Amino acid sequence: MRYRVGILGSTGAVGQRFIQLLSSHPWFEITAISASERNVGKKYSEGAVWRLETPIPEEVTDLELVAPDPKKMDCDIVFSALPSDEAKKVEPLFAESGFVVASNASAYRMEDDIPLVIPEVNADHLGLIDIQRKKRKWDGFIVTNPNCSTIGLVITLKPLMQFGLHEVRVVTMQAVSGAGYEGVPSMAILDNIIPYIAKEEEKIETESKKLLGEFDGEKVKFAEIDILASCNRVPVIDGHLEAVFARMHENPTPEEVKKVFKDFRSIDTPSAPKHPIIVREEVDRPQTRLDRNAENGMSVTVGRVREGIRYICLSHNTIRGAAGASVLNAELMVKKGII
Ligand SMILES: NC(=O)c1ccc[n+]([C@@H]2O[C@H](COP(=O)([O-])OP(=O)(O)OC[C@H]3O[C@@H](n4cnc5c(N)ncnc54)[C@H](OP(=O)(O)O)[C@@H]3O)[C@@H](O)[C@H]2O)c1
Repeated sequence: MRYRVGILGSTGAVGQRFIQLLSSHPWFEITAISASERNVGKKYSEGAVWRLETPIPEEVTDLELVAPDPKKMDCDIVFSALPSDEAKKVEPLFAESGFVVASNASAYRMEDDIPLVIPEVNADHLGLIDIQRKKRKWDGFIVTNPNCSTIGLVITLKPLMQFGLHEVRVVTMQAVSGAGYEGVPSMAILDNIIPYIAKEEEKIETESKKLLGEFDGEKVKFAEIDILASCNRVPVIDGHLEAVFARMHENPTPEEVKKVFKDFRSIDTPSAPKHPIIVREEVDRPQTRLDRNAENGMSVTVGRVREGIRYICLSHNTIRGAAGASVLNAELMVKKGII
């Protein structure tokens, strides 16, 4: 049996990745898709301006786009790729009506009773689900994944926690797809770097501490790490590259850091990468164009690990940083018997 899944915001940059990743999924079957009012009633192939390298999957070509309304979506799990303000209104309606909501949107990430999860980092935070359902009296629940620039960073910070990680400085170089298709005009970004992304630095600085925090059975105690971020939009289509400076009480050597990166493991599910962190030894890797699709876009590639500790990490923002992250969270919940 495959679980029946729906996608909220299925026509957008992240929504299209959901369609691509879920269309051939062994555990999930797409049975419902939503879009905004202007596309409701159209077939997916009419409503979505498809922009991915693989063709529109056959199973959704003729599927009808509906409003993001629990009564109109015929499925058990919804993956949300809605803009945050819309997610804020719509996601609780689904959770209240008994749906499992796996969300990409930022609307509920930092709420005390909503799990913000990366399976390799803090799967135990799913314990918040029971607390959330009791508190909100919902039949279903919401589980979120972090912002696209936070995910790649935190996957690499988790193995550094064992050395007493206490300070992180990060400078990001983020792809334009991170802002959605209509997000950054080409005239603004071609031949240019924009040293500002609204709310991005705050998201990295707060979400990371929740993800790396400890769940004590009732709440998450945030990790005590001093994190500062400086975020830049650069003219690449996909892939967020980040320069990281991490200080640890135990002062590990670059070789010790590379070893814990290489030994870091994911979960055992269909979308999980074999090596969540791939370490490159070449002086000029990772590079966005060459490395963003490592292990189907689900691995983080690290390189230039130097004394300090300093390193570069790269992750695919719409796969590992968005749709792939939600799908992996859903797989984790199936594996743990939560779904
Ligand atoms: N892009 C990334 O790398 C990334 C990474 C992590 C998280 N996220 C988050 O994921 C979410 C989606 O981002 P995106 O980049 O995919 O955005 P996007 O390309 O702008 O797509 C937005 C989607 O939501 C639908 N929508 C917009 N307004 C709506 C409304 N009022 N009612 C119902 N549906 C509505 C759109 O439908 P129409 O096509 O009909 O307008 C479209 O399907 C955001 O919350 C974003 O912050 C994005």
